[in-house]
Amino acid sequence: MEIVAGRDAAATERILRSLPSWFGIEDALRAYVARTAIADASLVARIDGEVVGVALVERRPPETAELVLIAVHADHRGDGIGRALVDAAATWAGFAGASSLEVHTVGPSFDDDGYAATRAFYRSCGFLPVREVDGLDWDGPTLILVLPLAASVA
Ligand SMILES: CC(C)(COP(=O)(O)OP(=O)(O)OC[C@H]1O[C@@H](n2cnc3c(N)ncnc32)[C@H](O)[C@@H]1OP(=O)(O)O)[C@@H](O)C(=O)NCCC(=O)NCCS
Repeated sequence: MEIVAGRDAAATERILRSLPSWFGIEDALRAYVARTAIADASLVARIDGEVVGVALVERRPPETAELVLIAVHADHRGDGIGRALVDAAATWAGFAGASSLEVHTVGPSFDDDGYAATRAFYRSCGFLPVREVDGLDWDGPTLILVLPLAASVA
């Protein structure tokens, strides 16, 4: 498995369609695919040349970068690819001058097993929950998490 910089809208769409519990709303899926072209960084995970994971990162001056999308194809979840994508995104963000990497996800007030797993993944990767906000990215609760980067870019 390798992580490389690359913009692959078709592969991103294929990965998101394998995860309907997270990306089942067509308009939202299309917006993520379109963002592949405009995000500051698009990182892809490849196995034998096939793209199996994607992360999009956008710089949020002055101090932060945001991991706006991370997804691993359903057939390859749980194999360490997501962690490798977070590491690559954190490295990119550090080189881009950010001192933290932020991510938003559905908050714990909304009962959903899939997003509980997503939050466990972020915690495992070192993200710290900051606060839950209603109505930020959707009608329900959004949890903001932050990964401090000072140690990883020292
Ligand atoms: C979340 C996601 C990107 C994680 O990628 P992944 O390759 O499956 O995760 P990894 O194998 O790298 O897991 C890294 C760590 O996270 C934790 N983790 C991963 N999935 C978990 C789960 N379902 N429940 C609890 N912990 C989990 C594990 O502790 C793991 O550490 P380990 O190496 O000690 O086992 C991927 O599963 C995915 O695409 N999920 C659906 C879409 C999604 O949630 N996107 C983000 C929000 S929209």
